[in-house]
Amino acid sequence: MTDAIRFEGVSLKFGSETIYDRLDFHVGQGEFVCLLGPSGCGKSTALRIIGDLLPADGGTALVNGRPPGECWSDIAFVFQSPRLAPWRTAIDNVLLGAELRFGAREAEARRPKAEALLALVGLADSGSKYPPMLSGGERQRVAIARALCVDPSIILMDEPFSALDPNSRRRLRAEIVSIWQETRRTVLFVTHDIEEALTLADRIVLLSNKPTRVLETVVITAPRPRDVARDPDIARLRDTLSALFRTLEPNSETEEEIA
Ligand SMILES: Nc1ncnc2c1ncn2[C@@H]1O[C@H](COP(=O)(O)OP(=O)(O)OP(=O)(O)O)[C@@H](O)[C@H]1O
Ligand SMILES: [Mg+2]
Repeated sequence: MTDAIRFEGVSLKFGSETIYDRLDFHVGQGEFVCLLGPSGCGKSTALRIIGDLLPADGGTALVNGRPPGECWSDIAFVFQSPRLAPWRTAIDNVLLGAELRFGAREAEARRPKAEALLALVGLADSGSKYPPMLSGGERQRVAIARALCVDPSIILMDEPFSALDPNSRRRLRAEIVSIWQETRRTVLFVTHDIEEALTLADRIVLLSNKPTRVLETVVITAPRPRDVARDPDIARLRDTLSALFRTLEPNSETEEEIA
């Protein structure tokens, strides 16, 4: 089957700085892959290339077997900050992506779907609230529902929970796993948090410092929900990844987050 995302020898420079020198990685259909790597290694940039927001300088980036420019409608983004329109209710924010992509009439036709998605993210009763009335975690749930409302086959998530408090972060991780299990979209999830990656992913792709290449790929077969601290196999993977990560980011916050 064609991979959902494939980077083959992708190279990219910003000015004189080489970001990628022939970067290769892939994400299978329906797979949940975490892209883990030190700050500035080009994780968000990879998502921009996949979303056709930025062209690569060389090599091939493919989305469902085609150039990103032909596949923007296969993709939805969830960012670190939910980027909701404050003057629109939660339900109308869920419809916003569909409205921008398909027009007001098609968005209106999706209202029942948007309601179902709000229920899926645990906000069935909050559709008429405006963003300032929602907690940070609730706003991020609206952003997830908005992403799902355009029926993407691939969801790109860029550190979507990193601005939340630890409890909301934990809850949303569990929720995104059950949403993924229910909807079976392909997810490429950027994080610099090893524990988060181990909780979520089928596979972790660990990136190096610039010029960026894949340092390690880790497959996690343990069933979800996972308890990183209690499962000895996952704890071992955590130790391996932490040791690798330490060589990349000597002063990383990652260790504190694990502790
Ligand atoms: N438009 C741009 N012009 C010049 N340099 C850029 C541009 N966009 C990104 N960069 C540089 O490219 C590198 C990769 O940036 P990117 O945002 O992808 O990193 P990241 O891995 O997402 O980091 P973080 O974990 O801090 O979010 C960084 O060194 C950044 O400064
Ligand atoms: Mg980033």
